[in-house]
Amino acid sequence: MAGFACQLLSLLCILGALQLVRGYSFRNCMEHKKGQVFNCYNRKEENMTAIIDDLPSTAVNLSINTNHVPRILNNTFTRLPNLLLLSLDHNQIRDIEQLAFHNLTHLKSLNLSFNLISALSPSVFHDLGNLTFLSLARNKLKELPGDIFSTLVSLSNLIIRENFLRNFTGIAKSISDLQNLRKLDLCQNHLTSLSHFNVSLPKSLNALYVCYNSLSTLGNHSSLLKPIQLLDLSHNPRLSTEAFHGVDLEGVNYLRLQSTGVNIFEFLNISNIYAGHVDFSNTSLNGSSEVIKLCNILQKKLPKIKNLDLSHNGFQIGKNSPILNNCPEIKEALNVSHNQIKIINCLDFLKNQTQVQVLNVEHNHITILPPCDEAVRLPNLLEVTFRYNHILSIKSFAFKNTPNLKILKLNINIISFLDQKALKGLNGLETLRLDNNLLTTLTKNTFEDLISLQTLNLRNNRISVIFSETFFHLGNLTILDLGGNKITHFQQSGLNGLRRLAKFYLDGNKLKMIDPSFYHIFQDTLTVLDLQNNQINLLSEKIVVPPFMNLTKLSDLKLGGQQPHGLAFLPTFLFQGLHSLRSLYLTDNKISLFGYNVFDDLTDLNFLSLDSCCVGVMQLQPGIFKNLKNLTTLMIENTGMQNFSKEVFGSLTKLQKLQLDHNVMQQIDVEALQSLPNLQYLDMRRVPLSCTCENSMLKNWTENNQDVYVVYLYNMQCPGDAKTKFYKFDTSVCYIDLGEYMFVGTTLVVFLFTFTPLFYVKLYWKFKYSYYVFRSWFSEQWRRLREEEENCKYDAFISYNSSDEMWVMDQLLPNLEGKGSSFKLCLHHRDFEPGRYILDNIVSAVYSSRKTVCVVSRNFLSSEWCSLEIQMASYRLFDEHRDVLLLVLLEPLSDRQLSSYHRMRKVMLKKTYLQWPGTECVDPTQSQELFWNQLRRAIGTGSRTERKGDDTSAHTRGSQHSETHKSDESCYLLP
Ligand SMILES: *[C@@H]1O[C@H](CO)[C@@H](O)[C@H](O)[C@H]1NC(C)=O
Ligand SMILES: *[C@@H]1O[C@H](CO)[C@@H](O)[C@H](O)[C@H]1NC(C)=O
Ligand SMILES: *[C@@H]1O[C@H](CO)[C@@H](O)[C@H](O)[C@H]1NC(C)=O
Repeated sequence: MAGFACQLLSLLCILGALQLVRGYSFRNCMEHKKGQVFNCYNRKEENMTAIIDDLPSTAVNLSINTNHVPRILNNTFTRLPNLLLLSLDHNQIRDIEQLAFHNLTHLKSLNLSFNLISALSPSVFHDLGNLTFLSLARNKLKELPGDIFSTLVSLSNLIIRENFLRNFTGIAKSISDLQNLRKLDLCQNHLTSLSHFNVSLPKSLNALYVCYNSLSTLGNHSSLLKPIQLLDLSHNPRLSTEAFHGVDLEGVNYLRLQSTGVNIFEFLNISNIYAGHVDFSNTSLNGSSEVIKLCNILQKKLPKIKNLDLSHNGFQIGKNSPILNNCPEIKEALNVSHNQIKIINCLDFLKNQTQVQVLNVEHNHITILPPCDEAVRLPNLLEVTFRYNHILSIKSFAFKNTPNLKILKLNINIISFLDQKALKGLNGLETLRLDNNLLTTLTKNTFEDLISLQTLNLRNNRISVIFSETFFHLGNLTILDLGGNKITHFQQSGLNGLRRLAKFYLDGNKLKMIDPSFYHIFQDTLTVLDLQNNQINLLSEKIVVPPFMNLTKLSDLKLGGQQPHGLAFLPTFLFQGLHSLRSLYLTDNKISLFGYNVFDDLTDLNFLSLDSCCVGVMQLQPGIFKNLKNLTTLMIENTGMQNFSKEVFGSLTKLQKLQLDHNVMQQIDVEALQSLPNLQYLDMRRVPLSCTCENSMLKNWTENNQDVYVVYLYNMQCPGDAKTKFYKFDTSVCYIDLGEYMFVGTTLVVFLFTFTPLFYVKLYWKFKYSYYVFRSWFSEQWRRLREEEENCKYDAFISYNSSDEMWVMDQLLPNLEGKGSSFKLCLHHRDFEPGRYILDNIVSAVYSSRKTVCVVSRNFLSSEWCSLEIQMASYRLFDEHRDVLLLVLLEPLSDRQLSSYHRMRKVMLKKTYLQWPGTECVDPTQSQELFWNQLRRAIGTGSRTERKGDDTSAHTRGSQHSETHKSDESCYLLP
C-alpha cells in the first residue's frame, strides 16, 4: 500500500509539472517571434498546405522560401487571416489557383519573386485590398490580365522586373486604377516602347524603372510620362536621341541614360528636361574634351548645379586640366569615379570648382598623392574618397590644401608608405579610413595633427608594433580599429592619449597576453573590446591580476578563437569587475577548465556565447551561472556537454533563448528546463536524445505545450533508429495510466469502507479461522525455505584474491574446516568445475553456498572477479533479502580507500563485518581466537536478514568509526 501511495504521489507530481513551462514546435517552420513571425525555409515538402498546417492563426509575418512547391491551391492561407507579410520567393511555383490568397484581407506585402509563374488568374489578388507591396520579379510572365490589380487600391510599390513582358499598353491598363501606386519596376523585360493608347498612368506614379529592356521609342504623345519624377531608361541600347522628340520631361528630376544610344549633347539640345537632373554617368564621354563640351552646354543652361555625376565615362585628367573650368558651379557633390584618372595633382582640376564639398575619385588608377602645400586651396571640401585606386605612397603635406576635411577615405589601396607628415594640417578630420592597405609602421608623428579625429580605421594592414605615443594626440578618438594586423605588442605608453576611446578592435592580431596596464587610459570610457583571434593562452601566460578590473563601462567583450591553443583556462578572477558587461563571446577556445566563480561578477550579462568553447567533454560546475540573473541568450552549441542539469542552469531565471544543439547528452532533465521560467526558444537539434523512458518526461514536455518553441522538434530522430522520430517514440511502457490508478484506488477504498463493518459483524469467526489457516501455511513455507538452505552444498563460499591465498590456506582453512568445526567450504581453485565458464562457476558457488565470505584486502578491492562475487552476494542481500554475505577485513581500510568501491561501501554501511586482528595487536593470539569464534558463529546462523546489531560480537560500522585506519580498536572486536 505504501508503495502504491508513493507512485501515486509521483504521478501527481508529474501532473503538477504539466502546469509549468512546456515546449512546442512546428513541423516545417522556424518561429522567430512568438506566434507571429515564421520562416519555412528549404523543406522537402511539395504541399504548401502541409508546410503551414500547424502554424497558429495569429501568424503575422510568414516567409516560405527555397522549397519546391509547384502549386498554390485555393484557400491555402484562409486559416491565417492575420497575415501582414507573406513571402513566397524561390519556390518553383508555376501555378496559383484563383482563390489561393482568399481571406488575406489584411495583407500588406506579398513577394512572389523567383518562381516559374507564366500566367495569373485575373482575380487571384482579389481579396488583397490592403496590399501595398507586390513583387512578381523573376518569373515567366508574358502578359498581365487587364484587371488583375484592379482591387489593390492600396498598392504603392509594384515590381515586375525580370519577366517577359512586351506590351506596355497592357501594363498601363492593369495599373491605371491604382491611385496609390508610386513605384513601378519593369526592368529586364522585353518592352520596346512606352506608348500606351487610351489609358493614362496613375497620377501617383512617380518612379518608373524600365532599364534593361529593348526600348526604341518612348511614345507618341507628349504628356505620356507626365507624373514621372524618377525615370530609369538605362541599358536600352536601341534607344536613340530621336525618341525624345516632343516628349515632355519637365517633371523628371532624375533621369538615367547610361548605356543607351542617346547622344548626350543632342539630347540636351532637344529635351525640355532641367539639365541638372540628368545623370551623366556612363554616357560615353570618352575624352576630357567631351567633358568640356558637356560643361559648355550645361553652363549655357544653368549657372549652378547641385551634383554632377561623371562616373563610368573613361576619361583622364591631365596636369592643369581645364576639364571642369566651364562647368556650372557645382554646389555639393562631384563624382568622377570609375574613370581612367592616373594623376590627381592635388585636385588642381577643382581650381574653378572650389565650392565642391564631396568628391568621389574611387575606382581610378591613382598611384601617388603628392605634397600639396603649394597647391590651390580647397577650404570647402569636406569629404574625399580615394577607395579602390592603386595608391602606394602618400607624400608629406598631401592634404595641406584641403584643411577642412571631415571625412577622408583612403582604404582599399596598396599604401605602404605613409609619410610622417602626410596628414599634416587635418585638424578638423573626424573620420579616417586607412584599412586594407599595406602599412607597416605608424610613428609618433603620423597622427599628430588629427586632434578632432573620432574614428580611425587601420584594419587589415601589416602593423606589428604600436610604438610609444602613436595615438598621443587623438584625445577625441572614440573608435579605433586595429583588427587584422600583426600586432604582437604595444610599446610602453603605446595607447597613451586615447582618453575617450569607446570601441577598440584588436581582433585578428598576434597578441599573446591581455595586459591590463594598457587599458587604464580609457578605463572609464571603453564599451567594446574585441580581442578575438589572437594568441592569448591563459594557461601559459600567468596572469595574476584581473585584467579587465577597472573597465567599468565595458559592455561587449569578445575573446573567441585564440590561436592555436585557445584560452585553455578561465581563471576565477578573469572577468572580475565587469559589472556592466552585456555580451561575452568565448567561442572556439579549447577551454578545459572554468575557474570556480568565473562568471560571478557578470550580473548584467544578457548574452553569452560558449559555442565550441571547449575541448572534449565539458564539465560545468553546479552554480557556475548563479549570478547571471539577467542572461537572456545562452549559446552553448557543440561543446561536448554531457548533461543538462538544474544545478548548473537552474539559476538563469531570465533566459529566453537557449542554443543547445550539437552536444552529446542523451537525456535532458525536464526539471532543469522548468527551472527556466522565461524560456521561449530551445534548439536541441543534433543532440543524441535517447528514445527511452529516461526521456519520457521530455517527450511529454514537448507535447501540447505553449511556452517554449523547440526548433524543428519533429525532425529529431531517435539515435540509431532512422525510422522513429523522437517526438513520437512509445512511452506507454514507462508509466501506467494515471486514470487506472485512480480507479483502482478509489474502488478499493470504497469497497473497504462499505464492507468491512458488514464483514466484521457477519463474518468475524470465519475471518479468524482463515487467519489461522493462513498462519499455518506461512510457517510451512518458512520451514521449507530453511530446509532448502540446509540442503546447500557448501556452508560458505570463500571469495578472496590470490595474493591473500596464503592466509586462506594457512589460517582460514584449518580454523574452519579442521579443529572440530567441520564447515564445508567452497574455494575456487579447489572446487570450481574446470572447463566451465568462470561466471557460471561464481554464480553457482554463491547460490549453492549458504554464505559468501569475502576476504577483503586492497588487492581484493581491485580485482574484477572478486567485485563480481561481492556484487552477486550483495544482490542477494539487497534484492532477495537473503543475508548471505560475510565480510572479513584482512587489513584496515580507510573510507577514502573504499570510496571508489561504491557497492562495497554500501554493503559495509548496511552490514557488520569482522576485522582480522593483525600481528601488531597487544595480544594477537587471544584476539585471533575470538575472531575465529565469531566467524564460525556467523557462518552457522541462518541467512534471513536480521536486524543490524543483533550480532553483538561483530562491530557495526558507524560514523564514529570511519577512521578505523590502524586504530587499536581493530584488535578488540567487542566494544
Ligand atoms: C496537402 O496537405 C494537406 C494537409 O496536410 C492535406 O489535407 C492534403 O490532402 C495534401 N494535399 C495533397 C495533394 O497531398
Ligand atoms: C478554385 O476556386 C475556383 C473559384 O471558385 C474554382 O473555379 C476552381 O475550380 C477551384 N480549384 C479547385 C482545384 O478546386
Ligand atoms: C477568414 O478570416 C476570418 C477573420 O478575418 C475568420 O474568422 C474566418 O474563419 C476565415 N475564414 C476561414 C475559412 O478560415
